[in-house]
Amino acid sequence: MEATLPVLDAKTAALKRRSIRRYRKDPVPEGLLREVLEAALRAPSAWNLQPWRIVVVRDPATKRALREAAFGQAHVEEAPVVLVLYADLEDALAHLDEVIHPGVQGERREAQKQAIQRAFAAMGQEARKAWASGQSYILLGYLLLLLEAYGLGSVPMLGFDPERVKAILGLPSHAAVPALVALGYPAEEGYPSHRLPLERVVLWR
Ligand SMILES: Cc1cc2nc3c(=O)[nH]c(=O)nc-3n(C[C@H](O)[C@H](O)[C@H](O)COP(=O)(O)O)c2cc1C
Repeated sequence: MEATLPVLDAKTAALKRRSIRRYRKDPVPEGLLREVLEAALRAPSAWNLQPWRIVVVRDPATKRALREAAFGQAHVEEAPVVLVLYADLEDALAHLDEVIHPGVQGERREAQKQAIQRAFAAMGQEARKAWASGQSYILLGYLLLLLEAYGLGSVPMLGFDPERVKAILGLPSHAAVPALVALGYPAEEGYPSHRLPLERVVLWR
């Protein structure tokens, strides 16, 4: 299949993006979603661990259940697609051979695996979840920008009960759920974004 070209460059998408909470009924083609997800999955992570996992939810009954877990937020049910971004550090640590660069072989590879296992050995489950969530927000940023670039509206969400979301989807109890993302073709313009000026947040030394 021929690749769909992004509509917007990174800067235009960043300037134009705003949260969208009302969507057209049109379904989002799976090919388009795959293209966005493949590009977003290029996001970097510490040790290249890529502890993020994504559930693509399109089933109406599952979206309805997720809406309830998200304190009734209507856009969770009404969006044609909801992405559940979760993080599973245990799965990542159990499969280090998947993420260590193929160019690193032999003793160096073993040493790298041991160093990574050591780094997490003393970390409790809550700290592991927080660490993996932090990495997953890098992916979330990529994702939001790419969705905008491809003409899709979206809203990221933290307003949900992660334990209920995990139960609905059958996710492992040790997983973190850093965000839900409702997405689809926009049926509203959204509020103009309001941001701190550069001078307020950037220090030069
Ligand atoms: C991590 C995160 C969690 C958020 N949670 C919610 C949410 O639960 N419900 C919602 O409607 N918007 C949510 N938002 C959207 C923010 O309110 C919104 O991004 C912010 O006000 C800036 O507006 P803009 O996205 O239109 O620029 C969340 C955004 C982020 C990044």
